[in-house]
Amino acid sequence: MEMIVAKNYEELSQISAQMIAEFIQKKQDAVLGLATGSTPVGMYKKLIGYHNKEGLDFSKIITFNLDEYVGISPNHPQSYHKFMKETFFSHINISTSNIHIPRGDQPQIEKQCESYEQAIKDAGGIDIQVLGIGSNGHIGFNEPGSSPEEKTRVVQLTESTIQANARFFGDEALVPRLAISMGIKTILESSKKIILLASGEEKANAVQGMIEGEISTQLPASLLQLHKNVIVIADQPAAKNLK
Ligand code: F6R
Repeated sequence: MEMIVAKNYEELSQISAQMIAEFIQKKQDAVLGLATGSTPVGMYKKLIGYHNKEGLDFSKIITFNLDEYVGISPNHPQSYHKFMKETFFSHINISTSNIHIPRGDQPQIEKQCESYEQAIKDAGGIDIQVLGIGSNGHIGFNEPGSSPEEKTRVVQLTESTIQANARFFGDEALVPRLAISMGIKTILESSKKIILLASGEEKANAVQGMIEGEISTQLPASLLQLHKNVIVIADQPAAKNLK
């Protein structure tokens, strides 16, 4: 894994946005794998800046989001559909037909998971997959114990993830207990390059385990050691436990 330690969150956002912008300039129909959560918000803002100020063109870009909660509709204020629209998609010239986010409110979820995998394959795989990391080492919603053989599927959220995400729902009881997530296998096999972003001291243990620890399903992010093209961009607080 390549490691970049950024001075702060601003620099982390700048470095990651620049990498993606430069890639898009070379490949206008790039396929991006995208994450929600707080960490990539600064990167999305910088990419919007590139679009507004320098005309960075997203019209042919295809996106696949990592995950979505089960049981809430795309219009729910805390859905990842809504998050992506408000944080990023409504500010750039992406074509809505090129946006893929799992639907957590549809029947036949298993079938949908299979179609999601197929759609990623049909797009030719993911050129750059952006990931965040949970303080328990999860990536996407692949919680500790997830197998590297799992594809897109319904997952049960752990107590620590429910607590971490309660800040968005206002009340822990309102956080959905299930989500659809791309699997570790999906991430490892379909991504040509992975950029993992980590910000803040609460991620320091997970970041250290991911990079310096043994490969273990107990820390799903450590499975990224199995991929040959991973760049971790961490700010100083998130990198503070690294040797
Ligand atoms: C979100 C996702 C999650 C987050 C992780 C970190 O799509 O896949 O794995 O990346 O929970 O979240 P933040 O950035 O809010 O700390």
